Amino acid sequence: MVSAVALLPPEVANQIAAGEVVERPASVMKELVENALDAGATTITVSIDGGGLARIAVTDDGLGMGVDDLALALLRHATSKIRSAEDLVGVGTYGFRGEALPSIASVSRTRVTSRARGTAEGNEAVVEGGATAVLRPAGCAEGTTVSVEDLFFNTPARRKFMRTPQTEGAACVEGLVRLAVAKPEVRFVVRRDGKVVREFLRHADVAARVRELLPDEPLAELRGSRGKVRVVALLGPPERARSGASHLMLYVNGRHVKDRLLLRAVAQAYGSTLESGRYPAGAVLVEVPPEDVDVNVHPQKTEVRFASQGAVFEAVMSVLRDAAATAPWAHAATRPRDFWTEHLSPGPAAPTHHLPDLVSHPASPRLEESPRLPTEQHVLAAFLGAAPDATDPWARLAAAPSPPAGYAESTRPSVPQMLAEPRHFDAGSARSELHGSTFGALRYVGQLRRMFLVCEGESGVVILDQHAAAERVTFERLRRSYLARSVPMQPLLVPERVELAADEVALVEERTEELLSVGLDLAPLGPTTVAVRAVPAMLLRADPRRLARDLIAELARQGNDFSKAVDLVLATMACHGSVRGGDEMAPEEVRALLLALDTVDFAGHCPHGRPVVFTLRWGELERKVGR
Ligand SMILES: Nc1ncnc2c1ncn2[C@@H]1O[C@H](COP(=O)(O)OP(=O)(O)OP(=O)(O)O)[C@@H](O)[C@H]1O
Ligand SMILES: [Mg+2]
Repeated sequence: MVSAVALLPPEVANQIAAGEVVERPASVMKELVENALDAGATTITVSIDGGGLARIAVTDDGLGMGVDDLALALLRHATSKIRSAEDLVGVGTYGFRGEALPSIASVSRTRVTSRARGTAEGNEAVVEGGATAVLRPAGCAEGTTVSVEDLFFNTPARRKFMRTPQTEGAACVEGLVRLAVAKPEVRFVVRRDGKVVREFLRHADVAARVRELLPDEPLAELRGSRGKVRVVALLGPPERARSGASHLMLYVNGRHVKDRLLLRAVAQAYGSTLESGRYPAGAVLVEVPPEDVDVNVHPQKTEVRFASQGAVFEAVMSVLRDAAATAPWAHAATRPRDFWTEHLSPGPAAPTHHLPDLVSHPASPRLEESPRLPTEQHVLAAFLGAAPDATDPWARLAAAPSPPAGYAESTRPSVPQMLAEPRHFDAGSARSELHGSTFGALRYVGQLRRMFLVCEGESGVVILDQHAAAERVTFERLRRSYLARSVPMQPLLVPERVELAADEVALVEERTEELLSVGLDLAPLGPTTVAVRAVPAMLLRADPRRLARDLIAELARQGNDFSKAVDLVLATMACHGSVRGGDEMAPEEVRALLLALDTVDFAGHCPHGRPVVFTLRWGELERKVGR
């Protein structure tokens, strides 16, 4: 990095992609943190008040600025990072345009306080809405603090487009997570409204940082290089892949990018284990010689251009494909059901009971070696896809990710269709079908057409509809926790974006609190976009986007009274989060389901749904065959 600040010649300035730098609080946060990183900070504190709309402040312990640099830093096209167009080739800093600070200062009340390393005194510069900076000496520690207040106070039209402080604040934290991946050696502290809410510790390598950021994802570390391209990736198993690429963070030379080429390389490396349109969660970091990549393509620097696209694609794809073959989840991914069969026995045993087996299983050598297994529960949760309830086998199995099922979505009855069925679920009849017995006492015989579970009972052959039964259990559990006002939620580290109609987004805005009460955290992002930030922990099996979409559609149909709609909402959720027709079920799963059915209150409040169970009595069977 060149040291002093100077104005760029206008021709150079024009070569640099100009454009909107400041869109929302999260973009301010990104620019300020990138400046702190460019200044060589080792600890960066980000304070977000009122979602960043009231105030964002970033404090670093980097090089700092003397008074002359401070005066220049707030002028357009003033940068210390490049001097000429040639310097743009292979630029090693996040910044190079000299645009961020003046852009931010023009739409806020900005105060920069800084003391250059090794000097005795600091200074501060205050700018309101882009007016000339006022400078004065100020007492402060070495390093820099940039405080940005009242963002868009002088551009009310812009301010109107901001979402709730909650949403904007969350976007800031997500943005910081993306920055933190590439800088494991830097410690980050996040405060929201005065309280420390996150802290990312210093780590020796990227792998440790990504694991810290995605503690619930069973990540495999994949490394390798081809020619001049080096790849480090931390990726989850294919069966936990998410629809869309929002959980996959991509980096080129330490810069977070959105790049289709790299996405395709990841998808191709996973091959047929990945459904089309789905991507694993995790991070892929690619290093190429700086002169082989152009970072000056996009105003927010989220795109890059490679000198040789084909070589980069080939390198990333083949490194990931080869490394993935030995990933700890490679075995479990191709044979998920056998895996359950081997490691999860039925009955009420606590999961920790099975953990020694799980950890020493030959299919998971990396897990066994890994020094960063926080707890045994964590490992199990990672494999099962949810924090399991230790005492409840069904809770564990219900949360298991479903295999990439070849089950056509359209053949599944939708909830409204089910509810419209004339044959209402009759409270007493389910258990009376069993003629005094319990579901737990049934002997499981087998699964038919991946849809029916055949069991032998005291009084006859008992046939269960696996989806209806699973749904009933999930529904009752959801309902119970809803009534107790404690639906456990699982935050999605990187929220999923869902496109909706504008009136549906308005509905989300109105119903945010009620949706939270059923375990769904939705935040509007734009006039037709919402983010799904958390889902009920019981429903990890469900695709959050489909879940959100169906749920909102259902709410829209129900009109105004949420309390009346709640059963339908819970039924929709249960439908999404349950074993379906077409899913193979291991005997352990069936066993867990039967035990769970005994805990369900069939005389419960929801009178809807299909029959779960049908009994063919021995006498009837005998008559049929003329005995
Ligand atoms: N936290 C900081 N510590 C030290 N110097 C800083 C800090 N923030 C900004 N500066 C100085 O102010 C200059 C202007 O910052 P600004 O973010 O506007 O531009 P840039 O980082 O050079 O380019 P870009 O617009 O691409 O971010 C920087 O080049 C740097 O010299
Ligand atoms: Mg900058």
